[in-house]
Amino acid sequence: MISFLKIHEWLNKEKKLGSLEPEYVVLATASKEGIPSTRVVHIREINEKGILFFTQQETKKVIDLSENPYASMTLWLPMQQREVVLDGCAEKLTIDEKKRYWESMSRERQLRFMVNSLKIRKTKISLDDLNKEYDYFLNKFRGEEIPMSDFYSGFCFVPKTMYFYTLASNGFSEIEFCP
Ligand SMILES: Cc1cc2nc3c(=O)[nH]c(=O)nc-3n(C[C@H](O)[C@H](O)[C@H](O)COP(=O)(O)O)c2cc1C
Repeated sequence: MISFLKIHEWLNKEKKLGSLEPEYVVLATASKEGIPSTRVVHIREINEKGILFFTQQETKKVIDLSENPYASMTLWLPMQQREVVLDGCAEKLTIDEKKRYWESMSRERQLRFMVNSLKIRKTKISLDDLNKEYDYFLNKFRGEEIPMSDFYSGFCFVPKTMYFYTLASNGFSEIEFCP
């Protein structure tokens, strides 16, 4: 099993050097025809198996990963001039795994997720309408638990290889492959 210790060490060092939230990666996916596409996602958790991220059900990354689970992630740590490149597969989280994370979110984030999923489905929706939708959900669920959105999707990215790169000022960059 791959160890995430070095990633934790590098993330902690990035925070010590002043980065408030370095846990963002560029996630590359490819369609079943092999057409690549990239975007930034927030690492929400690193467990013993892999790296968890969450997204909206109807996005390109979900469509790509449903057809082709191979993916790649790059974590860029500018304070240290370092990168970690991870290649592997993304596995869809089960409803129970998603629920555990949904329930750990603040009400505000849950509501924002719901409103953002409207934005993805309706290409033209004004900020005013988004605020109205937010207030609508706020009132609808006042005093109750907010149920997990049907559009809430999450993945565990399981790396098969990891590559650690440090850009050195002397021109001799440090490179380490795992495993
Ligand atoms: C700093 C930052 C963090 C982001 N975090 C996420 C995230 O955790 N999940 C997500 O689905 N999209 C996130 N996004 C938006 C994605 O980069 C992307 O635009 C969106 O998910 C649509 O991607 P897709 O249609 O290619 O799948 C983030 C964007 C930025 C700039």
